[in-house]
Amino acid sequence: MTQDELKKATAEAALKRILPHLEDNMIIGIGTGSTANFFIDALAAHKAKFDGCVASSQASADRLKGHGIQVYDLNSVSSLRFYIDGADEANEHLHLIKGGGAALTREKIVAAVAKEFICIADGSKKVDVLGQFPLPVEVIPMARSHVARELVKLGGDPAYREGVVTDNGNVILDVWNMQIVDPMTMEQKINQITGVVTNGLFAQRPANVLLLGMEGGVKTITA
Ligand code: 5RP
Repeated sequence: MTQDELKKATAEAALKRILPHLEDNMIIGIGTGSTANFFIDALAAHKAKFDGCVASSQASADRLKGHGIQVYDLNSVSSLRFYIDGADEANEHLHLIKGGGAALTREKIVAAVAKEFICIADGSKKVDVLGQFPLPVEVIPMARSHVARELVKLGGDPAYREGVVTDNGNVILDVWNMQIVDPMTMEQKINQITGVVTNGLFAQRPANVLLLGMEGGVKTITA
């Protein structure tokens, strides 16, 4: 199977998992990226069974609206039963690196509100130690050089993601060469640097369920 076929199979497994729980008044949190897109496309056939979605990016909001799915502002929603999103890396504790699509801050906010975060990824995203994928950090533009210097002190090699502006009007530094053996502590340390909006480590709020698309089927890992 191709990587896209594995992503699609995983998205469909997530849909199968949430289908029995859908209710008229339910609002679902939706992430960003190609795996989340497969989920959106599969979810569309069932749009009459729930109220609408909150999206973690403008791109996902546009895709949802294209399917005729109502998109809500998170501020008008008090709870989300599910948040479904992809990841760039995941470890056995369901700690994640996210932000390859530059949507990490909104993803973290929506995940914080959700009762259950179902992470969907192809099997290549599962690693023993996080950090092979460069860790995205969203930064206030005027703080970019300061934050980069502080990230070097933490042992990383930050690279400015040229030409990318987040939905929040900020920039992204991708931090290479980090062996993140203690994701909880590293998430906290990076977030304490002045000028950082947030970083792509999801350890303090990990996924609750990880669905991994593999050749032999979709593997489920729960916290
Ligand atoms: C976007 C993300 C995505 O979930 C992550 O980059 C995975 O993307 P894909 O499903 O395309 O592999 O965090 O900010």
